[in-house]
Amino acid sequence: MLHTAVTQLIGQTPLISIEVPDRDACLVLKLEKNNPGGSMKDRMARSMVVAALHDGRLATGGTIIESTSGNTGTGLALAALEFGLHFVAVVDHHAAPDKIRTMRALGAEIRYVDGDFAEDEVALVERVRLAAQLGAQLPGALFMNQADNPANPEGYAGVVEELMIQLPDGIDAFVGCVGTGGSMTGIAQRLKRHNSTVRTIAVEPAGSIAFGGVGHPFYQSGTGTPAGKAPGKVLDYSCIDLGVKVTDIQAFETARYFARRKGVLVGGSSGGAIYKSLEFITAGELTGTVVTMVVDGGEKYMSSIFDDEWMAKRRLLDPAIASQLDGWLFGKPHAA
Ligand SMILES: Cc1ncc(COP(=O)(O)O)c(C=O)c1O
Repeated sequence: MLHTAVTQLIGQTPLISIEVPDRDACLVLKLEKNNPGGSMKDRMARSMVVAALHDGRLATGGTIIESTSGNTGTGLALAALEFGLHFVAVVDHHAAPDKIRTMRALGAEIRYVDGDFAEDEVALVERVRLAAQLGAQLPGALFMNQADNPANPEGYAGVVEELMIQLPDGIDAFVGCVGTGGSMTGIAQRLKRHNSTVRTIAVEPAGSIAFGGVGHPFYQSGTGTPAGKAPGKVLDYSCIDLGVKVTDIQAFETARYFARRKGVLVGGSSGGAIYKSLEFITAGELTGTVVTMVVDGGEKYMSSIFDDEWMAKRRLLDPAIASQLDGWLFGKPHAA
């Protein structure tokens, strides 16, 4: 079949199954980096634009404004090209530099928020404030407001339809990351509608406050709710059985390990979701088919997570995580 727009390539992403020895469970990774913008967020970005065009909040020639760490922005840049719109991405220095370059390459205008922020401090509140202000000021502009936009979770309907076909024997658990909560909500609600016994586990960075605890800065990008920011209206806690936290070290070392040992390049937040999935599986707390969302690929983090110097400088390296993963996946430490 010949496609006529790159956004027609969104969805139908593949699965890869990871064996866990001596456990009655299989870890299945949904590889969302196979979307054209390299992340699951292509799905919700297009969904938000289509909804806004449909109900007249946005018209051809208009401008999309969004606060983004880069993945939503890349999806919006693609949707803007499809529908003849301009796109202004409001970003901060917490975003992975490769993601900003990608949005710019796809024709987006990049606006940084003002202010001095620590490197591991995400300026989400300031980003949202500037995006809302630009949306109100610029003629024909619309602030997409992904954290409160119902078309965000709706954009993930296709993920569940695909999983039902790809895994006809059923799904026992779903593990995903929570930033806005759009993907977790859109997927968990639908999975539970099909099978009320499916277990749903949401993973956020240690220091993120969507599931309680004390807020502090974190390096995981695109995910989490920093202190001072309320979780988005799209986050439906009632469809999530458990919210858990993962440290930057656990998340990043897992991403590096999966690249090295499995040849699967995953991003940092997905490294965290994989780490927690394996922890629950090896503890016997998750059994059967456990699906974990791989939000994006490691290719977006070559100058951070996959750069030894960057990791060492920030004290994010810890060989104990690789040994732990060796034990979980191979039953013993791996001989180098
Ligand atoms: C890399 C990464 N991980 C996790 C998330 C969280 O996804 P959601 O906003 O659906 O909760 C995002 C969202 O932008 C992301 O870019």
